[in-house]
Formats: sequence, structure tokens, C-alpha cells
Amino acid sequence: MKTIIEPFKIKTVEQLYFTTPEERKGLLTAAHYNPFLLHSEDVLIDLLTDSGTTAMSAKQWSALMDGDEAYAGSRSYYKFEEAVCDITGFSNIIPTHQGRAAEKILFSILGAPGKIIPNNTHFDTTRANIEESGSLAVDLPDPSGIKTEVAADFKGNMDTDALRALIARVGAENIPVVMLTVTNNSGGGQPVSMKNIRDVSAIAHEYRIPFYLDACRFAENAMFIKLREPGYENTPVKKIAQEMFSYADGCTMSAKKDGLVNTGGWLAINDDKLAAKARNVLIVTEGFPTYGGLARRDLEAIARGLVEVLDESYLAYRLRSIEYLGDAVEKNGVPIMRPTGGHAVYLDAKRFAPHIHLDHFPAQAIVCALYLKGGIRSVEVGSVMFGTYGPNTDDRSGAREQIHPPMQLVRLAVPRRVYTQSHIDYVAEAVSEVYAEREKLTGLRFTYEAPVLRHFTARFALV
Ligand code: F0G
Repeated sequence: MKTIIEPFKIKTVEQLYFTTPEERKGLLTAAHYNPFLLHSEDVLIDLLTDSGTTAMSAKQWSALMDGDEAYAGSRSYYKFEEAVCDITGFSNIIPTHQGRAAEKILFSILGAPGKIIPNNTHFDTTRANIEESGSLAVDLPDPSGIKTEVAADFKGNMDTDALRALIARVGAENIPVVMLTVTNNSGGGQPVSMKNIRDVSAIAHEYRIPFYLDACRFAENAMFIKLREPGYENTPVKKIAQEMFSYADGCTMSAKKDGLVNTGGWLAINDDKLAAKARNVLIVTEGFPTYGGLARRDLEAIARGLVEVLDESYLAYRLRSIEYLGDAVEKNGVPIMRPTGGHAVYLDAKRFAPHIHLDHFPAQAIVCALYLKGGIRSVEVGSVMFGTYGPNTDDRSGAREQIHPPMQLVRLAVPRRVYTQSHIDYVAEAVSEVYAEREKLTGLRFTYEAPVLRHFTARFALV
């Protein structure tokens, strides 16, 4: 049989609410053309994020009831620790309420003014936490990773020549950690090969620099390795994941992705001294080391989620369902990041709406149009999220020189185990219709922007 089906059936359902195009026009205007500011009940298909939006399994829900809510030494913590250790092999597992809390703790210890932290591509919160520590966050994507039209197997790789050049230029003593994000979310959800993980690890260790994974989507990455990297065809995905972690000295993790839960994360560290410092920060900012900002029952759900996420029938369905959406829109000519990533389809706004100047955020214009067309919520991954201002900016006169990131993308992130094939067919139809009418798209300008992570709260007006 050729069809890859959802490897689950539905036990509990959640009502969707329909709105009319006229209603959506009013709602989007009231949200200042920023779908982050919409009420979720006004969204029909929510592809804003795959983070914390997972449908948990019956076994996870029943594990919640078995949570041991002790403040210290909870049985649920030890179950969680064992599950994380089994896959990652790291010796200190520090639970956090989500991924960015792990980042905050790690970089508040390792970061400082003058320090430089490279990654294939930093996610927005990772970059913000690094910059808050006074360090500089540097992206070193493989050159293929920023060409949306070039299909390659591992476009999430780090450019290892660029890493060597960076170390030579700034000195290993100024690089407290080398990070690698699997899969590369800001770079289109593209996977990193085992070879690249091994090479980056070897370079970092040659200079005695610790090497950490941002492991949010480690299982999807491991499945891509199984499907695409010679030599891994017959290796169980769990073994592949274990090998990925074996090259690293620690990881940050948002369990809201491949932990298959609605909240949670961890910081894992092999270095005992660093782990002791991290636990001290944890106690001040998150909670006691055996719960770290979570209800103990949440740790139970993660422990179970980590088993389910490595089920290969789940991962085959997961990657195929993303590819299915990509294929469906590409058939109608829609330009996307090729090939499709593990958790999302990324539309290439530069090719989708070339008539909109980058200063007027073409990807945000598409995000708005998708909501108006079909009640679909997506997210801009382009200049709104990653743009900065250049030296020719004069805040007093209002003249601002915008510096644009290499890509202008619209991410359609698919929550795990939530939507069925007909939901996805509907999305493909709406995207294709917006593309057919692309000349009508209008650019936007900021009417409000926060100093950091501006995309969350920004307000816009049409230009
Ligand atoms: N690293 C990566 C690669 C991420 O994608 C995210 C979150 C984080 C770190 C932070 O984790 O949200 O648990 O604090 N990404 C979400 C997204 C928000 O929509 O892609 P968090």
C-alpha cells in the first residue's frame, strides 16, 4: 500500500469555529495586521506554530494522573530523567518550563560581552537570550540552506569552513559554546546530517569548545537521517537519535515540539561544574531541580512523549504529511522552500510577491492574506522576525535603513497529531488561491514595534 496514514485514531474532538471573510477583515484590522494578536477562536486552522500545540495521546493523559506532585525528589522527575538520559546519554538533566528557559540559564552562565556564539541558524529566542547576555549570535548556515529553490538533502547543515574561519578570526577563547539546531527551524525546518553533526563536534572539540545541540526537533531530524543519509537506512531511529546526542556535550530542549507535550523543556549538561551553576540559576528562576517550573505530572507526559515520538510509523506519517502539503501547493506553482522540512511548509515570499518591497514585509502581507482567505494563521519568518536597522537610521527624522535577513518566508507549521488530511487539503486550496491573486497583495509598515522579539507584539498598517 502506498498511502501513509495517520497512525492514530481520534478519541476526543475539539470544536472549530467558522468566521466569514467580512468578519475576518474586521478581526485582522483590530489585530493590527498581526495574527499573533488574534483570539484563537477566530482562527480556523492554526498553523502559527508546532510548539505546545500537540495532541497528547491517551497514554500521556493517563500518565498525568499518575504524577507525583512532591516538591522535591518526585518519582515523576526520575521517570523523566531516565527517559531523557536513555536518548541523550547526558549526565545532568535539568527540567525547565520550556526551551527558552533552558537557553536563558545556559547563556546567562556562558555568555558575556565580547563572546560569540555560532549556530547553523539561531532561533529567535535563542538569539535574544544570547544577545541579552551581551554576546553576539552568529549564523553560519550551509550556503545551500538560504537558496529556497535548490532541493538538497541536508540544507540545515552548518557551514564548517565558515566555523573554522570564525574561530580563526575571533579566537576559540571567545567562543564559549558552538550550537547546532536540529532541525534548523529558522532555516526552513531543514535537517542536519549526522556527518555535519560529527564534523561540527570535531571542530569544536579540536579547539576545546563545548558543543551543544538545540534539540527541539531531534526525532524529525533523526528520521530524515534514516531516510536520506547513506548507511542509516536500516538503523532504528532511536539509535540514530542516540548517536546524534553522543557527539554533543549537552543540549537545550523545548519538549513542546518533539517531546509531544503542551509545555516543558530541559537543559542537559555533561560538565558537572557547569550543571551545578545551572541548577543554582534554576532554583532562583524556575524551581527546584526535580521540577524546574513544571507541574510534576508534566514530566510524566514528557517521559511518555519521548517514547511515542520515536515510533517510526509516527515519524513516517509526520514527514509525509508535511511533504503532502508542500506537493499540493507546488502543483499550483506556489514557490516554497524545497524540499519540505520536518514540521512546516515555508512559502518563499520573495518569489511569491516580488512586487512588494522588502521594507514593506512581503511575507507578512501573505500571512494576512491567508487569514483573510481561509481563517488560516501562519507566521512570518523574515524581516519582521529577524530584520534590524542599519547605520543610516535616524530615529528623530523617522528615516530608517532596514537590514533584511537572507530569506523572506511564511511558515505553515503543522501541529503534531492535530489536523487531518482534509484540513491540510483546505490549507493547500487557500494558499493556492492567494497565490493566484498575488498581485492584489499589499505591503505593510510598523505602527508599533518592541525593542526585542518585535514580531510577537508588532502592529502594522497597510502601505
Ligand atoms: N529553539 C528552537 C529551534 C525553537 O524552534 C524554539 C521554539 C525554541 C528554541 C524555544 O523553545 O518556545 O519552548 O521556549 N520555537 C517555537 C516556534 C516557538 O514556533 O518555532 P520554547
